[in-house]
Amino acid sequence: MSTGPVRLAIVGGGRGAAFLKVLAPLSDKLRLVAFCDMREELIAMWKEQKPDLLTFASYEKLLDCPDVDAVFLATPFTVHAHQAIQALRAGKHVLSEVIATTTIEESWALVEAVEQSGLTYMMAENCLFTRSNMMVAQMAHSGVFGEISFAEGGYIHDVRHLQHHSDGTLTWRGRLRRDANGMVYPTHSLGPIAHWLRINKQNGDAFESMTCFVSKEVANHHYFRELFGDKHPGASRDYWRQGDSAVALIKTRNGVLIQLRYDVKSARPIQAAHYGLQGANGAYLTGRHKDEDPIVWIKGRSPGASPQRSSEPGAEWEPLWNYAEQYEHPAWQKWHTQAGQAGHGGSDFFVLDEFGSAILESRKPLIDVYDAVTWSSVFPLSVRSVQSQGKPVDFVDFNRQAAAGRPGSDA
Ligand SMILES: NC(=O)c1ccc[n+]([C@@H]2O[C@H](COP(=O)([O-])OP(=O)(O)OC[C@H]3O[C@@H](n4cnc5c(N)ncnc54)[C@H](O)[C@@H]3O)[C@@H](O)[C@H]2O)c1
Repeated sequence: MSTGPVRLAIVGGGRGAAFLKVLAPLSDKLRLVAFCDMREELIAMWKEQKPDLLTFASYEKLLDCPDVDAVFLATPFTVHAHQAIQALRAGKHVLSEVIATTTIEESWALVEAVEQSGLTYMMAENCLFTRSNMMVAQMAHSGVFGEISFAEGGYIHDVRHLQHHSDGTLTWRGRLRRDANGMVYPTHSLGPIAHWLRINKQNGDAFESMTCFVSKEVANHHYFRELFGDKHPGASRDYWRQGDSAVALIKTRNGVLIQLRYDVKSARPIQAAHYGLQGANGAYLTGRHKDEDPIVWIKGRSPGASPQRSSEPGAEWEPLWNYAEQYEHPAWQKWHTQAGQAGHGGSDFFVLDEFGSAILESRKPLIDVYDAVTWSSVFPLSVRSVQSQGKPVDFVDFNRQAAAGRPGSDA
C-alpha cells in the first residue's frame, strides 16, 4: 500500500478547472502539483490562482517530471488513449475523462499498457457517482428490483455552441460530428446501467450485441446557417455525418435489454443524463428535468398493486428519497456536504475520491480499464452498426484473464 497523498497533474484546463474546487477535502489522498495545457493563456490563469503549481505547455515534458505520480486527462477524448498509454509507460497512474478510446485497436493497446504497467487506470465517468445512481446501485445489488429485464439511459444536452470557435472554425467536437455517425459519447448513459447490472464483474452480466440507428441531421445546419450564414459549409445538411438523435439497443448475456439515446444538438432545455430500470419487483425512473424527483415503485413496499386487480388501489410512484435511510450509499452518507459543493451533482468529488483511494489502497478502481474500453467501444461499434443499416454487432471481451476463468471457456 502506498502512502498519500498522490501528486496529481491536471492536463487540459477546460473540464479540468471543474476539479480544482473539489480537491481541498481530499488533501490526504490527492495533492494537485502540476497543470498542463497547450494554451499559454490557461497556464497563466492557473498559475495566478495557484502560484505553487508546476506548469507545462508540453505533455511530454510533464511526463518527464519525477514530482508527478498521476495525471488526470481532461483533454479532447480523441487523444485520451494515446496520452494514457504514454503516461503509463512513463510510470504515472491515469485518470481519464470520458470517453477512454475511440477504436477497438486503441482499446486493446490501452488494456495492454495498463496490464504491463501494473499502475492504476480509471475512467472518470462521473454519472455513476450521483446520489440517485449510487442509491439505485445499492438497491439493484440488494435485489430490491428483483430480476432485471430492461434498463434505459439517455444523454440529451444541446451543446452546439461547443462545436465551433467564434470565427466559425470547428473545435474537436465539431469535427467529430462532421466525420462520424453513431452513439459517439455513450458512457454518461451507459456507465450507471453497467454498474447496476455488474457488467464484467464477478457473478455479473456482459454486453453481448448492439444495434444502432440515427435520425437525419436537422439541428446543426440550421444553427450554422443562422450563426455564420449560407457560405459556411456547416450550413449544408450534407456537411454533417452525425444525425440528431442516436438510439442504440444492447442485449446482455442474461437477456437484459438496454436502450440508449444520445442527442447533443436538438433545441430543448437540458435533460442531460437520465435513466430507468425495470425488474420483476419494481421500477426506477429519473425525473424529466432538474425540478422533478427520481421515482420508484417497489412491490410490497410502495403504495398500491401492479397489476391493479378488482378493488385494490393501483400502483403509485413514490420519491426515490423515501428509501434513503436504508439504501443511501455509504460514500454519500460520509461526504454529503463536501460532495454537494462539487460539480455535476457532487459526482466529480467521488471520481477523485475513488481514484486516490484505489491508488493508496493498491486496489482496482470502481471503473477499471476493462469497464472503460467496454463502455467506450459503443462508439466504434455503433458507427459500424449505423453504416450497415442497423445490423447487430458483437461486443469484444477485453478481459482475457477473466474470460479464461469463465464457464464454457476453451482457455
Ligand atoms: N464528465 C463530464 O461531465 C464531462 C464534462 C465536460 C467534458 N468532459 C470531457 O472532458 C474532456 C475535455 O473536455 P473540454 O470540454 O474541457 O474540452 P476543451 O476542448 O474545452 O478543453 C480541452 C483542453 O485540452 C487542451 N489540450 C488539448 N490537447 C492537449 C495536449 N496534447 N496537451 C496539453 N493540453 C491539451 C486544450 O488546449 C484545451 O484547453 C473531454 O474528453 C470531454 O468528453 C466530461
